[in-house]
Amino acid sequence: MLDGKKTLYSGMQATGTLTLGNYLGALKNWLTLADEYTTFYGVMDLHSITVRQDPADFRKKARNLLTLYIAAGLDPVKNCIYFQSHVPAHAELSWILNCFTYMGELNRMTQFKDKSAKHADNINAGLFTYPVLMAADILLYQADVVPVGVDQMQHLEITRDIAQRFNGIYGEVFTVPEAYLGKVGAKVMSLQDPTKKMSKSDENPNASILLMDDTDTIIRKFKRAVTDSEAQVRYRDEQPGIKNLIDIYSAVTGKKPEEVEKEFDGKGYGDFKLAVGEVVANMLKPVHEEFDRLTKDKAFIDGIIKENDEKAAYYAMKTLRKVQKKVGFTERIR
Ligand code: TYM
Repeated sequence: MLDGKKTLYSGMQATGTLTLGNYLGALKNWLTLADEYTTFYGVMDLHSITVRQDPADFRKKARNLLTLYIAAGLDPVKNCIYFQSHVPAHAELSWILNCFTYMGELNRMTQFKDKSAKHADNINAGLFTYPVLMAADILLYQADVVPVGVDQMQHLEITRDIAQRFNGIYGEVFTVPEAYLGKVGAKVMSLQDPTKKMSKSDENPNASILLMDDTDTIIRKFKRAVTDSEAQVRYRDEQPGIKNLIDIYSAVTGKKPEEVEKEFDGKGYGDFKLAVGEVVANMLKPVHEEFDRLTKDKAFIDGIIKENDEKAAYYAMKTLRKVQKKVGFTERIR
């Protein structure tokens, strides 16, 4: 609890380009939360180096991500938007929490298994302890809620386990966080294989809508989306491709799946796919325009970075000091 409000923490990796999955599963849900919660959103650049990055490209992508948070509508005055690597407390708490996390727990993480399979030539220790750093991110800010997509639930569970274990030994040090899933869009699936989640690392470019795709590309990708031969727009598990498109349409328009079924009753898949493409493209257009405007305003973005880094560091340091004292590190002499 900060300033009489509950605290919220979330973030995204600073790699690749964001997809519609990141937007509907996370970013879009963040936009309305600043009145109810004290909010922190990190650009998770420490997590990003678990896979190799080209330094110049990485620096650009991380700054673009911060800019995109703002372009999408996150007010940088009401929300603390900052770079994870600018707040050293993340790495420090992560080390401490490593000593309270078991190998067996980390071995069970599906993201570790997936990423190790994908990067078999670089299965580094950071990839393995990735969830501990994520726990440190969340626990440093004493977050009550963490809005994420379904794919991050396992990491949130381990965060809760670590917090409870630590509290069990040292008393109530950490708030035990809850996940906050959006009602729709929590799992946007690939347009080419609707049994797989939409992912920025997908090799098939038609599988994912990228947040910076232009209108024509978006519509073309939706036109090519894999569906079925049922020829009816119905929200059911037997039609995973159509179900995913209904989910996307619902998440963008706010309509319920039943309403979408009715709207497209008797219409062909071609019409439906075009309609989904159009609402998505219209939703993203203002975000693109704002992004272009903001990238030209270097001084504004620099100011946000400076101010919010300091704010984040202030709160993070409070928790880190408390933890250091609890585990028995010698106090500083001033
Ligand atoms: P990342 O960068 O992979 O994804 C960012 C957010 O987007 C959500 N997401 C999706 N939601 C719905 N459908 C999809 N297809 C889809 N793909 C991604 C993710 O669930 C996530 O909410 N480890 C985290 C980053 C992180 C973090 C944190 C998040 C680091 N520390 C602390 C919250 C709190 C990650 O890799 O997310």
